[in-house]
Amino acid sequence: MPDQAWADVDDYFTEHLLPADDVLRTTLETNVAEALPPIAVTPPQGKLLYLLARACGARHILEIGTLGAYSTIWLARALPPGGRLVTLEIDPHHADVARRNLERANLSDRVEVRIGRAADLLEAMRGSVERFDFVFVDADKASSDVYFKAVLTLSHPGTVIIVDNVVRSGKVADASSDDEDIQGIRRMTEWLATQQNISATAIQTVGGKSYDGFLMAIVG
Ligand SMILES: C[S@@+](CC[C@H](N)C(=O)[O-])C[C@H]1O[C@@H](n2cnc3c(N)ncnc32)[C@H](O)[C@@H]1O
Repeated sequence: MPDQAWADVDDYFTEHLLPADDVLRTTLETNVAEALPPIAVTPPQGKLLYLLARACGARHILEIGTLGAYSTIWLARALPPGGRLVTLEIDPHHADVARRNLERANLSDRVEVRIGRAADLLEAMRGSVERFDFVFVDADKASSDVYFKAVLTLSHPGTVIIVDNVVRSGKVADASSDDEDIQGIRRMTEWLATQQNISATAIQTVGGKSYDGFLMAIVG
């Protein structure tokens, strides 16, 4: 099926199930105006993150890979009063745009954007009492295994972890791929297979961002 049909179906469900939202629309427009790459989750995917975070009653959310905070806004809106979200971003320009988008969305009081290499920021968080109920991993895929292991030290039984873009047009099934991203995703997946206390699956998706998919896991 051509990508156009996938995009049309996304548009159809977006029109009917996602009410028009000036904040989210302006966020995406700002990301384009600020020359951020067009790699945010799609609107239906953003809403899925919101629904999942609400379904598990997440009060404390961690995101790895902020870009312009489009997915951050969806996730932060799922927080109950007093809830908090920490998002990690390596690119200072992306972080600056994200902070402005979060300000406009009236979410700055509950979202903290931390700037730096996610691996370093996660290492710095290690040993803290901070525990997250819901984690969205959406940065460089080559480090997927590193991020998953680090996130585990910041989790508790019941923490939900979503890793985006794990299918990559089906390339994940190619063991001989020399693509660093594919190898990172495969290392994470094969390590997960050895973990007794993590239950995980991966779902292939098509849509406005073509053919990809996400991994979902629950700790404990
Ligand atoms: C796919 S985008 C995130 C999209 C965002 N979650 C959304 O849906 O709106 C990936 C982001 O991760 C950031 N990133 C890449 N490598 C990183 C690293 N090593 N540490 C932290 N952030 C990184 C990129 O700069 C980019 O902004």
